[in-house]
Amino acid sequence: MTRVVYVNGRYLPYREAGVHVEDRGFQFADAIYEVCEVNEGHLVDETRHMERLERSLGELRIPLPMSRRALSHVMREIVRRNRVHTGLVYLQVTRGASPRDFPFPAAGVTPTVVCLARRVDNAKREARAESGLAVKTMPDIRWGRCDIKTVMLLPAVLAKEAAAADGAQEAWLVDSEGFVTEGASSNAWIVDKSGTLITRPTGNAILPGVTRRTLLDLLSREKIPVVERPFRVEEALSAREAFITSASGTVMPVVLINKVAIGNGYPGELTRFLRSKFHQAAELSP
Ligand code: PDD
Repeated sequence: MTRVVYVNGRYLPYREAGVHVEDRGFQFADAIYEVCEVNEGHLVDETRHMERLERSLGELRIPLPMSRRALSHVMREIVRRNRVHTGLVYLQVTRGASPRDFPFPAAGVTPTVVCLARRVDNAKREARAESGLAVKTMPDIRWGRCDIKTVMLLPAVLAKEAAAADGAQEAWLVDSEGFVTEGASSNAWIVDKSGTLITRPTGNAILPGVTRRTLLDLLSREKIPVVERPFRVEEALSAREAFITSASGTVMPVVLINKVAIGNGYPGELTRFLRSKFHQAAELSP
């Protein structure tokens, strides 16, 4: 349960926390966010999340609302005040509140900053990792700058809803040429018959996942071959293993795609190995 939320300089009880009705995040999705894992009380890969946050803000020309050090303090404080040992921190920055008008408001409007933390049921998540996820493919109807982590998530909401209606826990988004871009809220990976990992290269079509980046470090350390190239749904269906990466699930096995079993229908051996090693490769805050 979230007890305390940080909003624009104040730590407020959950029920009292809110932003202005003319906040541009609310009216235009003119906002960016980060989700950072909390593992045994440590923030996971905070540096990379902060780097991506700064990049997203820069791409949208939203000023950095406070120093990286101050943001880092807010995240730790919100973890502490909510007594989160295992869970997530959510940080959102909007362009601020101003009378509704499409162009950027005049200088002087201060960005809105919201930070909250939430516990995750670790036993439940581990059970899910043990059984593996089902994925449904959906057309990727998002915009041309999916590399920016904006809160403009309606295509992801609709895709996940369609997946859930079909008994799947994630949607894999497919571009107009039949290639998988990424998951609705994760990066997509497959393992081919030779044991090589395949994942789409970064670019405007996908979010450069922090978990993806850290996993690439782990793969290089373990000398596991990986190729960054797009793959089609058909190739995924005949893959030996498949999985997704995200801050909320680290490495999560995928065992069904469009109700077709991947490999032997159980979480793959390599996927399980990578899941077990992930936090050794990640940066854990002191
Ligand atoms: N989602 N791709 C998309 C579209 C995402 O929304 C996410 C993260 C990822 C994985 O990125 P990372 O490894 O940095 O978490 C890829 C977060 C967890 C969310 O929206 O809840």
